[in-house]
Amino acid sequence: MWSAILTLGVTAVSATNLFVSDYGGTINTFSLTASNGTYNLENIFSTTDCAPNPSWLTIDSNRGLLFCMNEGLETVNGSLSSFTINTNGSLTHIKNATAISGPVNGVIYGEPAGQRAIALAHYTGSAVTSWLLEGGGHFELNQNIPFTLSGPTPNPARQDAPHEHEAILDPTGQYILVPDLGADLVRVFSWDIETLKLKELSPLKAAAGSGPRHAAFWNPYAVASENSTTYMYLVAELASSVTSYAVTYLPNGGGLSFSQVYNSTTYGLLNLPEGNAPAEVTVTPDNRFLVISNRNNTSFNLPEPDGSVIKSDSLSTFQLQDDGTLVWHQLWPSGGFYPRQFSIDKTGSLVAVGHQYDQNIVILARDVATGLIGEPLARMKVPGNTTCIQWDE
Ligand SMILES: *[C@@H]1O[C@H](CO)[C@@H](O)[C@H](O)[C@H]1NC(C)=O
Ligand SMILES: *[C@@H]1O[C@H](CO)[C@@H](O)[C@H](O)[C@H]1NC(C)=O
Ligand SMILES: *[C@@H]1O[C@H](CO)[C@@H](O)[C@H](O)[C@H]1NC(C)=O
Ligand SMILES: *[C@@H]1O[C@H](CO)[C@@H](O)[C@H](O)[C@H]1NC(C)=O
Ligand SMILES: *[C@@H]1O[C@H](CO)[C@@H](O)[C@H](O)[C@H]1NC(C)=O
Ligand SMILES: *[C@@H]1O[C@H](CO)[C@@H](O)[C@H](O)[C@H]1NC(C)=O
Ligand SMILES: *[C@@H]1O[C@H](CO)[C@@H](O)[C@H](O)[C@H]1NC(C)=O
Ligand SMILES: *[C@@H]1O[C@H](CO)[C@@H](O)[C@H](O)[C@H]1NC(C)=O
Ligand SMILES: *[C@@H]1O[C@H](CO)[C@@H](O)[C@H](O)[C@H]1NC(C)=O
Repeated sequence: MWSAILTLGVTAVSATNLFVSDYGGTINTFSLTASNGTYNLENIFSTTDCAPNPSWLTIDSNRGLLFCMNEGLETVNGSLSSFTINTNGSLTHIKNATAISGPVNGVIYGEPAGQRAIALAHYTGSAVTSWLLEGGGHFELNQNIPFTLSGPTPNPARQDAPHEHEAILDPTGQYILVPDLGADLVRVFSWDIETLKLKELSPLKAAAGSGPRHAAFWNPYAVASENSTTYMYLVAELASSVTSYAVTYLPNGGGLSFSQVYNSTTYGLLNLPEGNAPAEVTVTPDNRFLVISNRNNTSFNLPEPDGSVIKSDSLSTFQLQDDGTLVWHQLWPSGGFYPRQFSIDKTGSLVAVGHQYDQNIVILARDVATGLIGEPLARMKVPGNTTCIQWDE
């Protein structure tokens, strides 16, 4: 039952912090505590230093830093803000720098113990930018790379311009990949090891009109190297599809080549509901499953103890196969409307979901052995439309 309180036989009290951003302008820290199988969320810190429209949080856990992208929904520019993470879960603001509009995601790259930078994907501004990290949360602009469309697109409403939606590293840390929802591409970049300036290589061309949004890599034997088997799973928002590619490393840092091995809707064997718009995709920490969030078709009605009903979108789980294909596993309610993003904790037993339209976060149980997502353990309102939720671990 949705309303049941789960008892997991846990007696010790444990606490983990979560950082949550929302379009209303705040970043909040929530403390999740578990005591005798009962979970509780408490809001322990809030800041508006990434206002007006925080869209994404990139955590640098080794250095205790948090980078926040302000999308700037109604301003000319967006911005990049940095914070130090304090042991009590609060954030100390370091810097807010004006940027090309619409940053929605960011990834840190470079030498792990040397010079590093953060690359941002700009949705509205049709660009990728790079910022050199100078320690202690200080940073400076390194490069602006704007893009234009080369011709007409199948979906002029959503594909009026290039729309960079995410920036991720390949498993070896040599390349940055940027799904472009407007141009139906996954752009690939390498960089100069001295300057960390990005250089665009040959992209992956996704299906016309599919609208690539987010992607995740997988090494079936959990070994990341140029010579290991590597797959990439691309979620396209407009086609509501998940496409798997076998990835080959070209010699001498020359880029990546992709060969499609699987494609289906994000509903797997089930009928795809009208209006579905998938958002986030991740490989689970146990390295055996792929989880995708489905937004905009609230297919589940969840009864509440007071007789009311929660309309809920869903999470899809697929089993990862050694040949890169996917086997349908589970469709499960995410616990609210419009799960823009979710994060799984490092044990794989808790899924934190951010619901953009319900302005809340929901923690779901997950059975690591079976890969099945389960009951909600805790739920909390946030002050604005939820955009990103990250575990501090
Ligand atoms: C722990 O939870 C169980 C099941 O709800 C309950 O029977 C027990 O009394 C609880 N123990 C404590 C110490 O609260
Ligand atoms: C950060 O910079 C952006 C872009 O200049 C600006 O719109 C925003 O108000 C700034 N945010 C804060 C909290 O100072
Ligand atoms: C949390 O830690 C920061 C930095 O040490 C400090 O400034 C702040 O007062 C602390 N907050 C609370 C509630 O203790
Ligand atoms: C702010 O936006 C304007 C208009 O798009 C752009 O020309 C300018 O470069 C942006 N400023 C920064 C610092 O990126
Ligand atoms: C990958 O294989 C090539 C050719 O056998 C070899 O030169 C290279 O060192 C290998 N790379 C790694 C990281 O093992
Ligand atoms: C994958 O499937 C989706 C949904 O059926 C379809 O729209 C898309 O064109 C397919 N993509 C490829 C690359 O075959
Ligand atoms: C959800 O999908 C079903 C089945 O395709 C459709 O009948 C319904 O209108 C859709 N609802 C919304 C809100 O798009
Ligand atoms: C949500 O679904 C409705 C009804 O099917 C559709 O008109 C709308 O474009 C969808 N929104 C998104 C963001 O996909
Ligand atoms: C915020 O959520 C409301 C529904 O609660 C929705 O109508 C609105 O479009 C959302 N705005 C943004 C910017 O997410």
